[in-house]
Amino acid sequence: MRLLWDSSGPRPPSAVYSTCSGRILSLRSGTGDNMTLASFPGGCNSTPPNTAHSTTKVTVPALIEMKRQGKPICALTAYDYSSSRLADEAGIDLLLVGDSLAMVVLGHENTLAVTVDEMLHHTRAVRRAVHRALVVADMPFGSYHGPVAQGLANAIRFVKEAGAEAVKIEGARIELVRALTEAEIPVIGHLGLTPQSVNRMGGYRVQARTSETVLQIKADAHALADAGAGAIVLEGVPREVAAEITAELQIPTIGIGAGPDCDGQILVFHDLLNLSFSAPAKFVRRYGDAGALIRSAIEHYREDVEHRAFPSDEESYHLPEAARKALDGAHKTAALRKVR
Ligand code: KIV
Repeated sequence: MRLLWDSSGPRPPSAVYSTCSGRILSLRSGTGDNMTLASFPGGCNSTPPNTAHSTTKVTVPALIEMKRQGKPICALTAYDYSSSRLADEAGIDLLLVGDSLAMVVLGHENTLAVTVDEMLHHTRAVRRAVHRALVVADMPFGSYHGPVAQGLANAIRFVKEAGAEAVKIEGARIELVRALTEAEIPVIGHLGLTPQSVNRMGGYRVQARTSETVLQIKADAHALADAGAGAIVLEGVPREVAAEITAELQIPTIGIGAGPDCDGQILVFHDLLNLSFSAPAKFVRRYGDAGALIRSAIEHYREDVEHRAFPSDEESYHLPEAARKALDGAHKTAALRKVR
């Protein structure tokens, strides 16, 4: 969503709808679940997950095995408990707590402002919701751009304090990838259109369109893989370039605006569901219109309140019969006293 195009600040959705077997059942404003940090992974007290697919936990080695077997990897961004739970139950393999949350959840113009603490907060919520998918935390701008030791310390926070199972970093930061791998933290690389470089790139533009830049991105992809990256997100690159990188690497590529030949695909949750308040980029396919559904449900609710059609008598609590009788008796006695 944030690719190429819109800078009008999106607003966070007011509610999330729950689905069962693909059918929309109801709107919910919250789960009421006990969501303490101690309860991850997926340890909430609410109803058990509704899973019609394999429940085997996805890990970074499992992604590599999927590539080996030619099985497409399906990834999606995630930012909160309810939507992550739905995505996990729908069989998504990898949930990325993307720094796109700066835009689609927090309403910033680009991804640069989001902080480590904000990313940790959302990663915890996602982690509590997820049983099967691999939970990857996107390291935000500034959290790994200085000394390697600083990047390592911040990555450790995502694992220790939020339960992330891998971190994603943008660019060919080979030394950092090596250090994270040595520290037992799986890393997902991210090449091509790297949104944290928006100021250097002068906007969100498709990358690797000249022979020099194609050679550079291929060299970077190989260097990341050699340094220990478990997968690489390829964003905003020509299909042909993504296809070549995918064919050359042993680790999976996950594309967004990189064509169909990658080992997997990722989309931003809000783009998939028309919640991003902007014209979709060329590579976005909308699979539902949650924007229209939520707007109409909220309008309906407002109208019902305004016309006193909500709540009904059935939606109200009632006084127990015994208490009503006792009160009636008390009223009668008080009335008699007044008459005397
Ligand atoms: O933050 C994000 O949403 C991403 C994409 C690659 C999906 O990094």
